[in-house]
Amino acid sequence: MTSRPVIDDMSSFWMPFTANRQFNAAPRLLESAKGMYYRTTDGREVLDGCAGLWCVNAGHGRDEIVAAITKQISTLDFAPTFQMGHPLAFEAASKVADLMPEGLDRIFFTNSGSESVDTALKIALAYHRARGEGQRTRLIGRERGYHGVGFGGISVGGIAPNRKTFSGALLPAVDHLPHTHNLEHNAFSKGQPAWGAHLAEELERLVTLHDASTIAAVIVEPAAGSTGVLIPPQGYLQKLREICTKHGILLIFDEVITGFGRLGKATASEYFGVTPDLLTMAKAINNAAIPMGAVAASRTIHDTIVNSGAPGAIELAHGYTYSAHPAAAAAAIATLDLYRRDDLFARAHAMAPKFESAVHALRDAPHVKDIRNLGLVAGVELESRAGAPGARAYEAFVKCFEAGVLIRFTGDILAFSPPLIVEEAQIDRIFSTVREALASVQ
Ligand SMILES: Cc1ncc(COP(=O)(O)O)c(C=O)c1O
Repeated sequence: MTSRPVIDDMSSFWMPFTANRQFNAAPRLLESAKGMYYRTTDGREVLDGCAGLWCVNAGHGRDEIVAAITKQISTLDFAPTFQMGHPLAFEAASKVADLMPEGLDRIFFTNSGSESVDTALKIALAYHRARGEGQRTRLIGRERGYHGVGFGGISVGGIAPNRKTFSGALLPAVDHLPHTHNLEHNAFSKGQPAWGAHLAEELERLVTLHDASTIAAVIVEPAAGSTGVLIPPQGYLQKLREICTKHGILLIFDEVITGFGRLGKATASEYFGVTPDLLTMAKAINNAAIPMGAVAASRTIHDTIVNSGAPGAIELAHGYTYSAHPAAAAAAIATLDLYRRDDLFARAHAMAPKFESAVHALRDAPHVKDIRNLGLVAGVELESRAGAPGARAYEAFVKCFEAGVLIRFTGDILAFSPPLIVEEAQIDRIFSTVREALASVQ
């Protein structure tokens, strides 16, 4: 079933991360959204099993957010934040800071996760330079990591197809930790796998190889989403933190997916009890109503950079025209108020056991090779069809969409991350639809 095209010419829009020719042959078009549901251009209701793109955590079309944006656009549509300011930028930063781990309360606004990542990498370099260790320029990422699509992000990222085409232009001083995914030890883990903390010690090997004096930062997703939901082994993040601290290396948590309640706490850092030096965020910061991202920096990092250099000189030559855009800031303030008022992070926490048992009930469904979950995020890995990797998950995704449920897929992994307002019956519907879809794909 394809959605009724409402436009004559679909050729101009070059779609991101999409098989353009395949899509144009059978479009899936969304027209409106409210609460847990999208509506397609041909009038079908589609239950949102992935919060849009892991970002609409409060559900769609929330009146408070719409009202805040509408009011702001008609009051102050745009204000520069280069050598100028507007009150909502400062208010939004304070509200974001309130949700961050202790001490990470200096907020730099961006417009996306990719920009947040590149901003955090640049802040790490600027920090070391400001304190006289400008030779610390090496960045350590992790295999299978996803850190957006900027040159910094794909360099530290570890998803091969995202790097291959651009391989000649990646940042030069980068290395990677091994990923933590291992089905031999951890298949069908509920929550954090027991095996794998020792993989963090690979960082010691990289320190020996490159020398700590050349390494600026390590960046990881505390729980990885886009690569197909990889949950950190118990003790892994704590070990990374210890090794970074020991060697004066900054630890960056990329919380673009995990920020704002996905794991049942404001941040994954809070959930795991591990505090990084820099924390990137974006997706749910303002419920995805207007593009916005941010980096939270420790006071030490902020003060070291801001107190360096001559008075009157710009301390960090970095920023975006739309950093803290008034409408995005208004949306963030309204969203963060809504999260607090409706206690949505606690709601996600309370719903997580139901979500876990519903997804793990798919264990005996056809093609299922692994299931993993934490908070309100889960991945179901399928056996790949011989000679056609990714085809089975794509077909399951299309079947689910036709049956009125939106999910995500990456390679042969199905991913689930519903808005935090999801009801138990909706969780059941998502996974019963997936079961039927899996039964009907070859
Ligand atoms: C961990 C992580 N970092 C960065 C990004 C990039 O965000 P954006 O698409 O907003 O640039 C994503 C997007 O999925 C992500 O999951």
